[in-house]
Amino acid sequence: MGQNTADPVLRIGLLGLGTVGSGVAEILQHNAQMIAERCGSRLQVVRALVRSGRRRRGAAARVATCTDPRQILEAEDIDVVVELMGGQTPARRYMQRALRAKKPVVTANKAVLALHGSELFALAQRCCVDIYFEGSVAGGIPIIRTLREALGADRTVAVRGLLNGTTQYMLGQLEAGETYADALAAAQRLGFAERDPRLDVSGRDAADKLCILGRLAFNSPLSPKLLSFSGIEALTPQHLAQAHCHGYRVRLLAQAHRRTVAGAAALDAWVHPALLGPQHPLYAVPAAHNAVAVRSLAHGDTQYQGAGAGSLPTGAAVVADLMDVARNLRAGVWGRLPFGNGRRALPPLPAHSCASAFFVSLQVQQRPGVLAHVANVFAEAGISLATVTQNVCATSLVPLTLTTHPTTFGAMQRALLQLRRAPVRRGTAQALPIAADS
Ligand code: HSE
Repeated sequence: MGQNTADPVLRIGLLGLGTVGSGVAEILQHNAQMIAERCGSRLQVVRALVRSGRRRRGAAARVATCTDPRQILEAEDIDVVVELMGGQTPARRYMQRALRAKKPVVTANKAVLALHGSELFALAQRCCVDIYFEGSVAGGIPIIRTLREALGADRTVAVRGLLNGTTQYMLGQLEAGETYADALAAAQRLGFAERDPRLDVSGRDAADKLCILGRLAFNSPLSPKLLSFSGIEALTPQHLAQAHCHGYRVRLLAQAHRRTVAGAAALDAWVHPALLGPQHPLYAVPAAHNAVAVRSLAHGDTQYQGAGAGSLPTGAAVVADLMDVARNLRAGVWGRLPFGNGRRALPPLPAHSCASAFFVSLQVQQRPGVLAHVANVFAEAGISLATVTQNVCATSLVPLTLTTHPTTFGAMQRALLQLRRAPVRRGTAQALPIAADS
């Protein structure tokens, strides 16, 4: 970058020109003048690495393309590398190469950061360059900046988020009577879903994002390999209807909160479809939006909401990172905003020790002693029941729903294993956490 020229230019190499890459090109084209005024440099895409020469529309069509990564990663005319390929390989390797070539990296890759963030940031530090990653969590919501900077002086108590736009959108559609397949196809058409949408519906995408937020908010070494997470694949319209009858909505909730267990502070973190009541801060978040509610000691409750996925919201987050890179390069600084060094970290609890109240649904045979049997299973697992509702039904199998007082995931797992036996119909017992309102 020509740091001493009157009109400095930040020369950008894009890895990937898909949904987010196109958004970056659009924002850079439409807001060029304003961006230059705000960050003191012109931001110019020099070229983009693409897999195929397929026709592109809009601003992306005007971006020069290449198929050899060396033309970006080791090119003299590239100042900063923007990684928007997604997935682990080769994205992680390319980022390492860019850092070693002393090029700052801007990425929206939650999968790589969740698993290898510490290693990449250590490398960036050794190479004296920055990694920026606002687009990696909740797309258009500036939650990374908020946790790293605005709330940086405060002690976080809890982070609760709806972090996956695809499942947010799909759950809204399912509630409106849409089929699962149609809801997923629509989420893909709208550009919310990952290239492999199993990452969205399995909960893995949200788990990756929670690991990143957990690192920033609690300096906790959360890993998607150890985190308790599940997705929306096993949810049926019946589950949603039953939750609705009890006044709840089901949403894919990612949450992490500080807890004291056996006298020691630890992080209780998980991602699961959960029941949210009307008093929950995320209950009214519209379909497809993401939201994050943060509780911290000095600020109290703060909440952030908006478009979490999609070309322009995520593209704008990436460009804002590029503006910071341009400012840093001009000032000759780097490393102002660390990822979290893992020292004095809040250790994550093992999955079986995480705790919540639960909503349990099952189908049972209609005969004397069945309720006593079910209640006994919970008693033996050490779980206290809060409510029991049995629907009036003319058939031999009746739907039964129970709510519990807070218990551990491990105890609930033990109870569910016991409930696989008669008089409970095989495969019908399912438990979803009930999100605490406060
Ligand atoms: N597939 C992701 C989502 C994209 O649905 O939220 C944004 O990370």
